[in-house]
Amino acid sequence: MKYVRISSNCGLKVSVLSLGTWHLPRLPEKDDVGAYKIDVDEFKKVLKKAFDAGINFIDTANKYHGGISPVPLSHAGYAERLLGKLIKELNLPREELVIATKVGAQMSSGPNGSGLSRKHIVWQVKESLSRLQLEYVDIYYAHVFDPETPKLETLRTFNDLVRRGLTLHLGLSNIPPHHLVDYLRISEIEGLEPVVVLQYKYNLMERDAEKDVIPIAREFKLGITAYSPLAQGFLTGKYVDIQSRKWVIPELSRAAYMTQMSKRYFTDENLKFMIDFVEYAKSMNVTPTQLALAWLLKMSEIHNVPIIPIIGVSKINHLEEALAATEINLKDNDLKYLNEISLKISVSPQ
Ligand SMILES: NC(=O)c1ccc[n+]([C@@H]2O[C@H](COP(=O)([O-])OP(=O)(O)OC[C@H]3O[C@@H](n4cnc5c(N)ncnc54)[C@H](OP(=O)(O)O)[C@@H]3O)[C@@H](O)[C@H]2O)c1
Repeated sequence: MKYVRISSNCGLKVSVLSLGTWHLPRLPEKDDVGAYKIDVDEFKKVLKKAFDAGINFIDTANKYHGGISPVPLSHAGYAERLLGKLIKELNLPREELVIATKVGAQMSSGPNGSGLSRKHIVWQVKESLSRLQLEYVDIYYAHVFDPETPKLETLRTFNDLVRRGLTLHLGLSNIPPHHLVDYLRISEIEGLEPVVVLQYKYNLMERDAEKDVIPIAREFKLGITAYSPLAQGFLTGKYVDIQSRKWVIPELSRAAYMTQMSKRYFTDENLKFMIDFVEYAKSMNVTPTQLALAWLLKMSEIHNVPIIPIIGVSKINHLEEALAATEINLKDNDLKYLNEISLKISVSPQ
C-alpha cells in the first residue's frame, strides 16, 4: 500500500485508498422498514482484509446505516456502531487507524436535529464517539451545507472540538463552491484550526469537481477524498451487457434498490460510453473497476492535489479488485482516450 499526506499543510498520512461505509455488505433479507440486513461477517472480513492490506483510512458518517438510503431516523448511526464494534472485536490498533466521520444530516426530528449549529455539532460529536467507541476521531467533516447557521459559528465550534481533543483534523463535504471558499477564507482570517480535506463526488463519469473543487483544493493546499469513485458501481461495467448492447440490473446490486440511480445513469449516451470503457479496460487486461480507480489515482498527480478514492465494498472480492488498481500506472495515451470518451457525457447531479 502507498501512503500520502492528506494535504500539504498537514502531517497526517493516509493510504491512497480509503474504505467507505455508506453501503455495507448486505444479506438478501430486509427488515420491517425495508432496510437490507447487514452481512456483519462479510463486513468484518472486509475490514480485516483492508487493514491487513494497509488501508488505514476509514470513512463513515453519523447518519449512515449501510443497507438503506435515504436513512430513516430509526436506522441512523448503525454504520458507526457496527464499525466501532468490529474495530474492537478485530483488535485493530487505534493509533494506526485514521477514522473520519461527519455531521450535518438529520439525526432527530427536533428543530436542532440537523445542520451545522454549535448545538447540533456538540451533541453529535459525543454521539458519534460513543457509537464508534472512540475517544477521538481523526477527521470530522461538515457533511452538508447549512444555510441557516453562520459560517463562523460552525468554524469556531469545529475549532473547539480540536482544542478539546475530540477530533484531530477538520474537513468539509458537499458545500457549494462559493460557500466553500467563504469557509476557508474565514477560517484563515480568524486563525482557526485549518480545514485539511474536502470530500466531494468525483469519478470518470462525474467530473464537476475539476471545475471548482480541485482548483480550490490546490489554492488552499487541501486534499480531496473522492466519493462514489465507481459512480456507485456503474464503472464496474456490471450494468451493461456488451453482447446485446443493453443495460442490465443484476439482482441485489445497488441500482436494484436505489431507483433514483437508474434515472441518472441509464441513458443512451452513457451506454455508448460504458461499452467503449469496458472494451478499453479489456484491451489493457484490467477490469473496468481497476481502470476507473487507476484513473482517479492518476488525477491526483495530474492536478497536483492529493485525491484519495473512498471505495464502497459490498463483497470481499470488490476490495481485492480495488487493491490491485493501486499498481496500475496509466500512460498519456490512456488518459487521452479516457478524456475523449468521458468528457462527452453528462450525468444529472441527483
Ligand atoms: N460525503 C458524502 O456525501 C458521501 C456520499 C456518498 C458516499 N460517501 C462515502 O464514499 C464511499 C464510497 O461511495 P460509494 O459506495 O458510492 O462508492 P463506489 O465505489 O462508487 O460504489 C460502491 C458500490 O459499487 C459496487 N461495487 C464496488 N466494487 C465492485 C466490483 N468490483 N464489482 C461489482 N460491483 C462493485 C458495490 O455495490 P453493489 O454490490 O451494492 O451493487 C459497492 O457498494 C461511501 O461508503 C461513503 O463512505 C460520501
